[in-house]
Amino acid sequence: NWKMNMTPSETAKLIGELKPLIANEACDVVVCPPACCLAAAKDALCGSEIRLGAQNVHWEKSGAYTGEVSTAMLKELGVEYVIVGHSERRQYFGETDETVNKRARAALAADITPIICVGETLEQRESGSTNEIVSAQVNKALCGMSEADAERVVLAYEPIWAIGTGRTATSEQANDTIAVIRGEAADKMRIQYGGSMKPQNAKELMAMSEIDGGLIGGASLKANDFAAIVHYDK
Ligand code: 13P
Repeated sequence: NWKMNMTPSETAKLIGELKPLIANEACDVVVCPPACCLAAAKDALCGSEIRLGAQNVHWEKSGAYTGEVSTAMLKELGVEYVIVGHSERRQYFGETDETVNKRARAALAADITPIICVGETLEQRESGSTNEIVSAQVNKALCGMSEADAERVVLAYEPIWAIGTGRTATSEQANDTIAVIRGEAADKMRIQYGGSMKPQNAKELMAMSEIDGGLIGGASLKANDFAAIVHYDK
């Protein structure tokens, strides 16, 4: 998740650096640049196994929704994944559990894999309500989806207090909360951890039984760091 970083030309440069580092991987590798960089990313990714993701999508097909992007727009740009309900969208842009659900369902209907983010604030963790909060977020995000659709969803557990702070959840904290999330989710769903994941802690996090992958912010902006996380087991 590149967040609001990189221009189209910087996107092409970063992907150019990344491509030779990411090849024949056993896992799925996705980059999610800003919407205005998706076309540049699509071109730059030509011939690569790295997949393309967006950072948001609207649920309506088209219309008077200034500033939003539709599934058709993303599809034409080769987008196969979309982040939905990132805590920054929930915190700063009024995203609610209901709009997260609408966005995720629209993505699935267009055959785009939603990466749905959930996570608690520091206050919520300290007051002991983490499990309740993330369970409710997951339930509401998956509301009305068939079992088959829910299995195509990727969930990302991102404790808000660990995002961009350098403060990672301990691998046990991440694992325990993801186990709670798994209890609410479809059996086959992939669940990632996000929040200050970096080359130094990827191996320990990925060794945990419940953690299937990572959603990387800051460290995804440096080709070597991102590749080192992808290669955590090498
Ligand atoms: P950082 O890796 O920068 O903490 O960001 C995590 C995140 O929010 C990914 O979506």
